[in-house]
Amino acid sequence: MQATSPFAERVSLISVSSTAKVSQEADRLRRQGVDVVDFGVGEPDFPTPDNIKRAAIAALDENFTKYTPMAGINELRQAICERHKVDFGTDYQMAECVSSVGGKHAIFNLMQVLIQEGDEVVIPVPYWVTYKDVVSFAGAHPVFVETDEAAGFTLTASMVERVLTPKTRMIIINSPSNPSGGVLEREEFEKIAFAAKKRGIWLMTDECYCQFLYDSEPYSVASVPGMKDTILVAGSLSKTYAMTGWRVGFTLSPASVASAIIKLQSHSTSNITSIAQKAAIEALLGPQDSVQTMLAEYRKRRDYILGRLRAIQGVTAAEPRGAFYAYPNLGGVLVRDHMRTPMEFAEKLLAEAHVAVVPGEAFGTDKHVRITYAASIEQLKKGLDRIQQFIEKHAA
Ligand SMILES: Cc1ncc(COP(=O)(O)O)c(C=O)c1O
Repeated sequence: MQATSPFAERVSLISVSSTAKVSQEADRLRRQGVDVVDFGVGEPDFPTPDNIKRAAIAALDENFTKYTPMAGINELRQAICERHKVDFGTDYQMAECVSSVGGKHAIFNLMQVLIQEGDEVVIPVPYWVTYKDVVSFAGAHPVFVETDEAAGFTLTASMVERVLTPKTRMIIINSPSNPSGGVLEREEFEKIAFAAKKRGIWLMTDECYCQFLYDSEPYSVASVPGMKDTILVAGSLSKTYAMTGWRVGFTLSPASVASAIIKLQSHSTSNITSIAQKAAIEALLGPQDSVQTMLAEYRKRRDYILGRLRAIQGVTAAEPRGAFYAYPNLGGVLVRDHMRTPMEFAEKLLAEAHVAVVPGEAFGTDKHVRITYAASIEQLKKGLDRIQQFIEKHAA
């Protein structure tokens, strides 16, 4: 006999990531031979640096291909703590560190071990797609707080404090932000950390893009003295070292939280791939110049794309201060033809002009699209030419 519903109820609480949907459609067109410019996917167009690849090859040659401890080998956990210390002046120990299958898995683990039904989790808008779903999957309620677009999608401690309730269990901060490129000022970050600590609320800082900042120095709120017991760092090597496919992320947290994550992980993924662990150690402890090279390139692209977007009538764009996304406001464009929402705009743009962007609905806003500028200047030029022509055509 067939069960009344084939799925567990919690699966209905989440939806397929919209960024994944866009790339599926772009892929489908590409397979039909269409020349698609893909600004949808959020990953570096650079190859993984050679020294990192060589470390993986050496691991294979040395038959480092068996199970490892669940949290990762000690050498990797130490390398993560060491890199964080050198970059941000923090003082994490191995027992406070767990390596996971990408930053996404690290965040999922944190939610599963710390959040439950009835809890509220504060998420600034626009948000990275996954936060809302992982919070819902854990049975909790996302509570959204608008950022100030006119000031570069900034957030202040008082904006956050206004939405805190006795049910608030966690605040999520992603600076620089995917999708807006907004950066939380250090002073406000610290105020939020103090507000969280005072109330015994977790502050999760997603440091996925922490090395990609255009006008400020890399910073971790976990470096503020006395704060570590309410701070959760979710980290990823995906973007920093152009290692999206390797799947290496981590958490830095109080040791008790790390133990709970290890327990959970021991029944799901176990350790991350042994070979990827060796590659990650080289990434973290080896030369860091590739990060600066990528950053310099992203800056050029940011400047280019911003200039192009701002030259299109009906489009405004805040300056991204970090990461590699532009989040233009199409308020002046979404009044035309069957293009009243970012979703309709993105669908029509992909179908007619063959440019993939992610509609703002995915990130909680109704006038924007996200454009990834981790693409060559030639691709950016081609894509922006098409976007401009598309908008001008539909303005007529
Ligand atoms: C804000 C943010 N956090 C975390 C991640 C997770 O990255 P990964 O799972 O590839 O490490 C991403 C990836 O796009 C991201 O944009």
